[in-house]
Amino acid sequence: MNTFPIPVVDPRDGGPLRLTGEGFVAQDGEVYPFVGGAYRMLLPHERKGNYTENFGKQWNTFARTQVDEHSGVDLSKRRFFAQTDWGDLAGQTVLEVGSGAGRFTEVVLKHTKAELYSVDYSAAVEANYANNGPHPRLRLFQAGVYALPFPPQSFDNVFCFGVLQHTPDVKKSVECLAAMVKPGGRLAVDFYPIKGWWSKIHAKYLLRPWTKNMNHDKLLRLIRRNVPWMLAVADFSYKIGLGKIVNRFLPLCDVKVCLPKGLSPEQRLEWAVLDTFDMFSPAYDQPQRIPTVEKWFKELGFIDVFAGYVKYDGGVSAVVRGRKSK
Ligand SMILES: C[S@@+](CC[C@H](N)C(=O)[O-])C[C@H]1O[C@@H](n2cnc3c(N)ncnc32)[C@H](O)[C@@H]1O
Repeated sequence: MNTFPIPVVDPRDGGPLRLTGEGFVAQDGEVYPFVGGAYRMLLPHERKGNYTENFGKQWNTFARTQVDEHSGVDLSKRRFFAQTDWGDLAGQTVLEVGSGAGRFTEVVLKHTKAELYSVDYSAAVEANYANNGPHPRLRLFQAGVYALPFPPQSFDNVFCFGVLQHTPDVKKSVECLAAMVKPGGRLAVDFYPIKGWWSKIHAKYLLRPWTKNMNHDKLLRLIRRNVPWMLAVADFSYKIGLGKIVNRFLPLCDVKVCLPKGLSPEQRLEWAVLDTFDMFSPAYDQPQRIPTVEKWFKELGFIDVFAGYVKYDGGVSAVVRGRKSK
């Protein structure tokens, strides 16, 4: 095997890998190289590109924007601990799936004592490494949730925040995350919730059929040009009591949800551009009903399941978390 506390295995078939100066090498000579601070554990057919290229662009363009250390607001820390309800995790392992630029990677490294394995399917791993690496408790991988390069039932704690709605098969994603949890270990996920029939009557869902297929540079330019006036309109609408309805039909992120208090005007603009790109560029946007995800957890053998909205200073998220029965 190899020298990692949790062995890294071949994402093709779970087979053993050898750690060399180049990266991980399989028995048949297949190489998973170490590039830019991350082990690239993609399946051979995924290497030429996959459906998360928008996120690679997004997180390498806005690498520092939402990372607490750089933003000066500790929103990621508040959100992480509110959503997980985990403590200092001394002596425990954590798997993070879909880490983006590493806003929660930073929280785990700074505010817990856990050994962290952090995974993203896109080139965002480079932004994460720039923000958080190298670190003695961090191991970074470019890999997909459906072919994670670790043996099943390996981790004490697994979390996946801001990701599930952007995967092609949300139920299968939850199954693959659950498979990584040790008996007695914990899993926490968040996702965009379906609140009712009106949830999809929204500028985002009306325009996404076009925007998700647009060239990413062109889309980002369009958003950068239009966010300043839309932000002014949204702010004014909130002042006169019409914010909710106006913001719903403006092709702009939800200013009450996405822009925490304490940001400077320049930061507000940057966060708004980032979150608006995040709304319109992903290939998938599949909100879920909280009771549906709760049911999956229970079917997968999780107990002490919490399923509901979690509020923290600066936000509210739909969360399901639980413990795998022994
Ligand atoms: C909206 S971003 C959230 C990033 C980070 N968790 C945060 O909250 O800032 C979603 C991330 O999930 C990753 N992702 C999407 N599908 C994935 C998959 N199948 N496996 C692993 N990561 C995936 C994307 O590359 C992207 O970085």
